[in-house]
Amino acid sequence: MPALQTELSAALPQLVKAVFSQPMEGAEYARVTIRPVKIGRDTAFQAEGIRDNKAFHFNFDSGALLRFAANTLDGRYRQILLMQSEGAAQYVLRRDGTYKKSGKSSVPRPGGDAALAHNREKRYLLAEGENIPALVDLGVFTPDMRIVKAKYDKYRQINRFVELNDDSFSKLEPGKLTVMDFGCGKSYLTFILYYYFAVKRGFDVDMIGYDLKADVVERCNAVAAKYGYSSLRFEVADVSRDKLADRQIDLLVTLHACDTATDYALDYAVRHGAKYIFSVPCCQHEINSSIRKGGDLDILLKHGILKERLSALLTDAIRADVLEDLGYAVDLIEFIDFEHSPKNLMIRAERRRAPREKNLPRCRELAETYGFTQTLLSLTDSAETTES
Ligand SMILES: C[S@@+](CC[C@H](N)C(=O)[O-])C[C@H]1O[C@@H](n2cnc3c(N)ncnc32)[C@H](O)[C@@H]1O
Repeated sequence: MPALQTELSAALPQLVKAVFSQPMEGAEYARVTIRPVKIGRDTAFQAEGIRDNKAFHFNFDSGALLRFAANTLDGRYRQILLMQSEGAAQYVLRRDGTYKKSGKSSVPRPGGDAALAHNREKRYLLAEGENIPALVDLGVFTPDMRIVKAKYDKYRQINRFVELNDDSFSKLEPGKLTVMDFGCGKSYLTFILYYYFAVKRGFDVDMIGYDLKADVVERCNAVAAKYGYSSLRFEVADVSRDKLADRQIDLLVTLHACDTATDYALDYAVRHGAKYIFSVPCCQHEINSSIRKGGDLDILLKHGILKERLSALLTDAIRADVLEDLGYAVDLIEFIDFEHSPKNLMIRAERRRAPREKNLPRCRELAETYGFTQTLLSLTDSAETTES
């Protein structure tokens, strides 16, 4: 490249993202990503520098950005990617300190131009290009931190999940935070939440992901170790019966933990004093397989598809009612557009008061009338019996 200044300056009007990677000795950051941001009505540029797994952010107008590039970046990174709306260009550092253009490519986006326009409109809390290297290992990001096309819907979901957490946690001063993820699977969510709390917000996070599958747990532990995430670990466990860590927690999350695994997670959260619960259930089979006709709802039990939907709704309605009686303020919210996932309901709960018994009798009566079992209700009842 003639000079970094000239190329960067020419790219700014259409800039989607610039990435400075492979730092040389003396570079201040391991990696720097620059992208346009809206501040009020103006467009500015935000530089994100990563050092010791922490993100540092600076906002610049175009002049200040070019000065920052000249003083802090030029000649200090072996590789530069300049991504514009029409394509991307790569540069590599020569021995003489100048840059050579090594490639130019068009930039196909998942979903094409419409998706691009939409993505630009909606700025995610964790934008595409955010430096979360663990996600490259997990196959969600390409090595230049773009979302792998096949993982686009998943990324959308977890981003939304983090946004909803941010609604609750953005007001809080960072401190110690113990988090559990039940049925973490490949743990995209777990890693992103860890990144959000530990790297982006500076919480002192202690996080465990539980799953049945030994191979994914082993892989996730290896990725956590690779990035020095010493307080993030994964354990093989059947959350419905194995012995789990027995200590106070602050936050419990589940994303599509199968069927009653969600109930065991909610029960664990309550018993271990979790202040916050964010739970997106899935495959609510339990009531569907036990419910029988018995009252006014019989009309909804005649057809299989209605019975299945009613059972799923009843399951989550009972979970919400039980949590309310156990002292939580509960919202059931649409977690993501139905077109992106039919499993789109989130139970969001925050512990605010002492337990009381208001909803439980109605839930028990429903279970009795229609002959179904619901695990959270049963676990709560058995805890009450043990205590009394
Ligand atoms: C649909 S996957 C979701 C994985 C991950 N949370 C995500 O959203 O990508 C459900 C996961 O729950 C795990 N799971 C189901 N029942 C479980 C149980 N009783 N104990 C622990 N994990 C369980 C499964 O092994 C699976 O990995």
